[in-house]
Amino acid sequence: MTAQNVHQKIEGYDRVLEEANTAKRYGVDYRVMKGEVARVLDLLHPKSLDLRVSEIIEETPSTKTLRLVSENGYLPPFEAGQYINLFVEAAGVRTSRPYSISSAPNQTAYYDVTVRKQEKGFVSTYLLSRVKAGQCFESTAPAGQFRYNPIIHGKDLVFIAGGSGITPFMSMIRETTDRGLDRKIHLIYGNRIEKDIIFHKELKERAERHKCFTYTPVISEPTKSCKELTGFISAKLMKKVLKGAQGKNFFLCGPGALYDFCMPELESLGVPAGRVRREMFGAPVDITAHPGWPAGVKGNARFTVKVKGRGDVSALAGEPLLVSLERAGFKVPVLCRSGECSMCRVKLLSGKVYQPRGAHVRASDLKYGYVHSCAAYPVEDCEVLL
Ligand SMILES: Cc1cc2nc3c(=O)[nH]c(=O)nc-3n(C[C@H](O)[C@H](O)[C@H](O)COP(=O)(O)OP(=O)(O)OC[C@H]3O[C@@H](n4cnc5c(N)ncnc54)[C@H](O)[C@@H]3O)c2cc1C
Ligand code: FES
Repeated sequence: MTAQNVHQKIEGYDRVLEEANTAKRYGVDYRVMKGEVARVLDLLHPKSLDLRVSEIIEETPSTKTLRLVSENGYLPPFEAGQYINLFVEAAGVRTSRPYSISSAPNQTAYYDVTVRKQEKGFVSTYLLSRVKAGQCFESTAPAGQFRYNPIIHGKDLVFIAGGSGITPFMSMIRETTDRGLDRKIHLIYGNRIEKDIIFHKELKERAERHKCFTYTPVISEPTKSCKELTGFISAKLMKKVLKGAQGKNFFLCGPGALYDFCMPELESLGVPAGRVRREMFGAPVDITAHPGWPAGVKGNARFTVKVKGRGDVSALAGEPLLVSLERAGFKVPVLCRSGECSMCRVKLLSGKVYQPRGAHVRASDLKYGYVHSCAAYPVEDCEVLL
């Protein structure tokens, strides 16, 4: 069979040919549109964005929103729940951190990112104490799979947030209530103390104005005058406020500890794992406490990581390989920094790394010896290919 014959077997080939001939007869020249698809794709998914801080909004004593506008007048659309990875240059190190967009996608003039200061946090401290309006940053385009899918997730949603984990939900809640979308949302939002609750006033107001949205704040270390529910987001508490978990889809976002606590509670309510979506913020606090960490390797142990053909790096066992590479000045492509997207993969040529459960290493990466450097910890001297 010749190549021409193969084309003729494709359904619709004759129709397309006829259309092309008609277009040619009337003077349409599709060649002038060469590169159009690439141009549109680049608008939707640019490789990087140049953003400027237009305003800084203080949300709580430890949290600020940076309102980011485009330097060239265009921001690509995003879906509520997605994040951008913001690059910063701090203390001579170029690194990045992902931040969920907290503004709604129906508002196209800016992206809000709402950052909570972490104790001894490298980037959050820099963003909250050093950054001024007018400062510019490079970031990735919006990315991430933590978003609502009407086909899979139904119309009855429960959002469980801890601390700064409110941000992707804020975008979803703002979009749903602003646009009157046909969904029911119940937000259960845990914080240590009342003054840590981010967006409290706005959440209360939206719950009062919109029947489709219910808001339950929960405080774990309440003051005597606290009027909210207190304790942790337990099965008992969820049973009380949700009046049954059946048919509901759960979304969980916050620190790893929130997931570790809430998953067994949801299980005890009979919620199948397939009805829970999650996004965890930040690297584990103490990786050495994770199951399978090699006995005898301390978090502060140092190993030499040889970067093939490019030099040696002194790496802490308790810190992701990616951070050690960045500290030493290596530029590693990154996006999620949480083991999901595989952008930061490096080939492990020799030595061992620890990879916590949940790092989504693809079968092909496993087969050819690649690891996600943001979710891999050196536990002996290694050699990697960058
Ligand atoms: C998808 C996603 C969305 C997120 N969205 C939000 C959000 O909306 N709001 C929010 O507040 N957080 C969010 N996070 C968490 C956020 O990305 C950071 O993890 C968080 O701000 C803490 O970062 P940090 O640098 O302050 O602390 P860490 O990264 O935990 O740093 C802790 C310590 O590491 C050391 N260190 C780390 N990196 C370096 C380096 N390169 N060089 C030298 N020392 C270093 C420092 O000594 C510091 O003491 C999100 C995370 C993910 C995965
Ligand atoms: S940056 Fe996404 S897996 Fe490491």
